[in-house]
Amino acid sequence: MGTLGASGDFDVLPTIGSKELVALLAYLLEAKSVLIPEIAYPTYKVGALLARAEVLEVGIDANSWPKRADLAWINSPSNPTGRVHSKGELEACLAWARKSGATLASDECYLPFTNGIKAQSILAIANGDNTSVLAVHSLSKRSNMAGYRGAFVAGDPKLIAQLLEIRKHMGMMLPLPIQKSMAIALSDQSHVDKQAGRYQARREVLAKALVAAGFKIEFSEAGLYIWCSRDEKDWDSVDWFAELGILVTPGSFYGSKGNRYVRIALTASDENISSAASRIVAAVNR
Ligand SMILES: Cc1ncc(COP(=O)(O)O)c(C=O)c1O
Repeated sequence: MGTLGASGDFDVLPTIGSKELVALLAYLLEAKSVLIPEIAYPTYKVGALLARAEVLEVGIDANSWPKRADLAWINSPSNPTGRVHSKGELEACLAWARKSGATLASDECYLPFTNGIKAQSILAIANGDNTSVLAVHSLSKRSNMAGYRGAFVAGDPKLIAQLLEIRKHMGMMLPLPIQKSMAIALSDQSHVDKQAGRYQARREVLAKALVAAGFKIEFSEAGLYIWCSRDEKDWDSVDWFAELGILVTPGSFYGSKGNRYVRIALTASDENISSAASRIVAAVNR
């Protein structure tokens, strides 16, 4: 937990990938109202709907959030936008949680990929008082171990005890060999830095080609994605890329505010990213 800057009392619970926890958290906490980012990874909403909770899409600024809710999700660096919350934005989320009595769940699975941009865990912002705070991390992203389904949630010991108590009755234990593999991966930072460098190099190659093709790149400073728009319907952009043999995701998958954007993943190989960039540039010069 050293690299997350956590201090004070906290506990850690392994989860079966972070998706499982994201989908179950509202249910496990019996949340009846859930705030989610207005452009977001879809499982926050799915989890709230599974819990039959009221879902409200909110902007980044916690000062504009409703006074009360049971659970709020934040995600920095964001999937799909790559936006990183500033320290002030995280502090506002925490202050909101303290005041409203809500649980603040911070999905930080892309925190290892920030390209030198200052991004912090909510556990560092909490500064030793982890009451009502949970941070969600995943080895799927940090160490390219998606198939292992290894992740963890850390934070308020009371909340972690509550999650543990119910999850064990649901059979949600993470097998020991996977936990041991996670411990080994977490003890090494060099492979993470190497991978972060690869993503950044791919981002630069692709970004140049996208700008040449008239796309405006928004945020996209961290994480695994480029979020961009040519000010046309997302599916028109998806079609344009598909003609070039490039698969991108329509922004409307992440909320209606994303309907003029596409998300491009940097997870293809270096060769495929360079080839895609060349095809984009060739299409523009045709
Ligand atoms: C923001 C975010 N949270 C959680 C997950 C879930 O990842 P996993 O279940 O592999 O840990 C993803 C996967 O894409 C994601 O983008």
